[in-house]
Amino acid sequence: MGLGPDAEPAGRLGGAGARDDPIARDDPIAQLRADRAEASARGDPMASLCMLASVGGGEPRVRTLVLRDLNGTVAPESVPEGFAATGFGLFLNRTSPKFHEFGESGSVALLVYLPSLAVQYRLRCCLRPLSAQIVRESWQLRPSVPKRMDWLYERFPQSGVIGSREELVGLLQCSDPTDAPATAVGFVLNTDSVERLDLAQEDGIHDRRRYTVDGDGWIEEILVP
Ligand SMILES: Cc1cc2nc3c(=O)[nH]c(=O)nc-3n(C[C@H](O)[C@H](O)[C@H](O)COP(=O)(O)O)c2cc1C
Repeated sequence: MGLGPDAEPAGRLGGAGARDDPIARDDPIAQLRADRAEASARGDPMASLCMLASVGGGEPRVRTLVLRDLNGTVAPESVPEGFAATGFGLFLNRTSPKFHEFGESGSVALLVYLPSLAVQYRLRCCLRPLSAQIVRESWQLRPSVPKRMDWLYERFPQSGVIGSREELVGLLQCSDPTDAPATAVGFVLNTDSVERLDLAQEDGIHDRRRYTVDGDGWIEEILVP
């Protein structure tokens, strides 16, 4: 997004707000939530997005996804030992390569970069399937074309090759489906490690911290940026 590690972030230095709340600083997930809210208020196009890396056949694969805030809609008991709930989730189609890659390793890597704040997060996450009911309800909020695409994937798996753009457009000339297909799925993200890199420092020395789950809390370590 045009901001390298040595770049001067615009309009961030000295800023105050929920991000500087001492409670949020002890809890990297609360801070991520506060940073995304602040980025959104600044009109940051990355505020709702993440990059998700997984492994397919031993190769790294990465893609942009919408990172949905599900806070309050997911039961806390679904968090495995040694992990913390993030309350963030992903929605995707089971026919896609990424779905199969999720089964290849126990974890995925999640990256959030917020150019408006010059802040990067890196999380190691494990994924837990969301209930079919949450997926169905959320699917109703999808725009028209993504709804039709989700049904197209039943016959033409996502990321597969299709004959031409004209064929694709022709296949999507149908009325809006009313319900989610069974291939529409969602996952909630739990994490055991969060790293936050903040470039926007008065003295120019980046602030980099790693948070590791420790019981009900977090261990914070300062890293060389
Ligand atoms: C801004 C943006 C948001 C996206 N959000 C999603 C999403 O929420 N879910 C999804 O399955 N794909 C999303 N995509 C498409 C993915 O990046 C990717 O192209 C697609 O899911 C196929 O990925 P795969 O071949 O790695 O499985 C998004 C792409 C962009 C550019």
